[in-house]
Amino acid sequence: MRILFTGGSGKAGRHACRYLRDQGHRVVNVDLKPLDEPGIDNLIADITDSGSMFNVMTSYANFDELEPGTGVPVFDAVVHFAAVPRILINPDHETFRVNTIGTYNVIEAAVKLGIRKIVFASSETTYGVCFFDGETSPDYLPVDEEHDTNPVDSYGLSKVLNEKTARAFQRRSGIDIYGLRIGNVIEPHEYERFPGFFADPGCRRRNIFCYIDARDLGQIVDRCLQTDGLGFQIFNASNDTNSVNLPAREIAERFFPGVPVADDLGKNEALYSNRKIKEMLGFEEEHDWRRYLDAERM
Ligand SMILES: NC(=O)c1ccc[n+]([C@@H]2O[C@H](COP(=O)([O-])OP(=O)(O)OC[C@H]3O[C@@H](n4cnc5c(N)ncnc54)[C@H](O)[C@@H]3O)[C@@H](O)[C@H]2O)c1
Repeated sequence: MRILFTGGSGKAGRHACRYLRDQGHRVVNVDLKPLDEPGIDNLIADITDSGSMFNVMTSYANFDELEPGTGVPVFDAVVHFAAVPRILINPDHETFRVNTIGTYNVIEAAVKLGIRKIVFASSETTYGVCFFDGETSPDYLPVDEEHDTNPVDSYGLSKVLNEKTARAFQRRSGIDIYGLRIGNVIEPHEYERFPGFFADPGCRRRNIFCYIDARDLGQIVDRCLQTDGLGFQIFNASNDTNSVNLPAREIAERFFPGVPVADDLGKNEALYSNRKIKEMLGFEEEHDWRRYLDAERM
């Protein structure tokens, strides 16, 4: 597929772009700064500028596309990751502005140009636990996509609004638009942080103990691109188990006392449910943290 990817120079995006390239897709990264990666093309553009989004989506990927003499090829899909990725980087209103206007511009341009598949980054923070002032608990565990979204912060709110924007454009167009409520992204070198998580498991409470390996996130994006006909969908994006070395039920009892837990919760099953991506997209994790750390010795 010929894919336009926004935010591919960032932490999550660069792994997803590499994964997609390695599957044989042509990837054009649209970001404020280039990704220096063989086989991935770059266009520098700002998602908050609507004209730029229409323009990059009707652009050549690189000089080689001039050779056939058949005009600008069309994009098969847009993957939209560009954003301010949390609170406390920019002032709150700027986070909200960039994320909401940017997402509107990307989705509007893709839909109006007839691109048939859009995958966009939403967030675990939509559930309202991550950036709460003080402590709050989910309504039930594991947290699945049916759980209420009720954040109190500008970032989580921007992602909830983006889901509404995506849903509106999907309803208008009938194309496939899938949103990924991405959990805490872990790059390969970050497994060295896990012993610290095991020593102080409470530090993972705000993330509902979830993690998503950046390469596995690439697989999830690819599965979204390969799976057609689902209309508007929201998927939690996380690995199969929790980011601490404790049984799931013990984590729930210790850190979320009184919160109802599903009877069929697996021994180490993620409290941030990824059942839907497994069932509907066929996701199979490749990067369980146990591949990189010895659970018995921790
Ligand atoms: N990292 C996580 O744990 C995590 C968790 C949940 C959701 N997400 C979401 O995943 C996506 C990627 O996150 P990340 O961690 O890679 O963030 P990141 O900050 O590392 O990458 C974001 C990229 O977007 C680009 N960008 C920002 N504003 C832009 C603009 N106006 N125009 C064009 N490009 C712009 C940045 O230059 C950067 O390369 C974001 O949508 C984020 O909200 C991330």
